[in-house]
Amino acid sequence: MAKKTIAVVGATGAQGGGLVRAILADPSGGFAARALTRDPQSDKAKALAALGAEVVKADVDDPKSLARAFEGAHGAFCVTFYWDHFSPEKELAQARAMAQAAKDAGVKHAIWSTLEDTRKRVPLSDSRMPTLLGKYKVPHYDAKGEANHFFTELGVPTTLLNTSFYWDNLIHFGSGPKKGPDGKLAFVLPMGDKKLPGIAVEDIGRCAYGIFKRPDLIGKTVGIAGEHLTGAQMAAALSKALGQEVVHNAVTPEVYRGFGFPGADDLGNMFQYKADFEAEYCGARDLAFSRSLNPQLQTFAQWLAANKDRIPLG
Ligand SMILES: NC(=O)c1ccc[n+]([C@@H]2O[C@H](COP(=O)([O-])OP(=O)(O)OC[C@H]3O[C@@H](n4cnc5c(N)ncnc54)[C@H](OP(=O)(O)O)[C@@H]3O)[C@@H](O)[C@H]2O)c1
Repeated sequence: MAKKTIAVVGATGAQGGGLVRAILADPSGGFAARALTRDPQSDKAKALAALGAEVVKADVDDPKSLARAFEGAHGAFCVTFYWDHFSPEKELAQARAMAQAAKDAGVKHAIWSTLEDTRKRVPLSDSRMPTLLGKYKVPHYDAKGEANHFFTELGVPTTLLNTSFYWDNLIHFGSGPKKGPDGKLAFVLPMGDKKLPGIAVEDIGRCAYGIFKRPDLIGKTVGIAGEHLTGAQMAAALSKALGQEVVHNAVTPEVYRGFGFPGADDLGNMFQYKADFEAEYCGARDLAFSRSLNPQLQTFAQWLAANKDRIPLG
């Protein structure tokens, strides 16, 4: 039987790359990977081709290229790239373009990698956190959540996938422990004693693969995480893995927003939202369900064992 092709947006990146590798690691699974990239000649694209992916040139800002890339595909994995441009409007436009391309190509199963629209719980009139860019509380969340309707209203058979904080942010996003004035390593997480759902980013792709194997999840919203951990628990796991003490620095969201790096206010609001709605946010990311999609799902300790040497210790 012919394999079902999954067109993967962001294939050279973190989420999409994990999905391509998960598909290719299961040659008898009945699926083939089509990796979308703006540059098929890049090293990352060539590495995916060498693993057995079909590599197709596409830019989500170019609807014609997206139409060609989705043509004949059984499934489409759709993700946007907020931190490349910091524009919710661009994210909305790209999500709309992917939903339209999926509709036009008649894909049987799309996954939209989304996040909650926080304004449903924290309306703009709620002064607990500042309104950003005029109409958002957590811009990189709200635009994704708002974009859900492009998929549902066009009638694209979609699973809405709420992802979680990548533990890989400790390597690539400056979220790792930093040396304080006392010389001690401190892990900053502005969530007090509340739990943060986290995941190894490679596991997002593996869970997405599990979703493509489950057509019963079409029309559903699902959430995934590897573990729900407090800042103190993460600091303890870091101490153990690194062999030196890491303390949890539970600054307030307000202090975090003031850190001044690009996106600090967005992330400060995000952590505050996760802390204020801990039960709902963790409840939307069931661990047993995530493991049922991806039996290889890693814990934070397992992820640390494999990655501790890659975490820059500032
Ligand atoms: N960091 C976190 O903890 C976290 C948690 C949950 C959700 N997220 C969300 O995850 C999203 C990013 O996903 P990711 O981490 O998988 O991204 P990523 O690793 O930055 O990779 C994105 C890939 O997308 C491709 N790309 C960028 N612009 C494109 C365009 N216009 N057309 C086609 N391809 C394009 C790039 O590939 P080429 O250069 O090869 O085209 C790039 O390799 C963000 O929106 C973020 O908000 C992040």
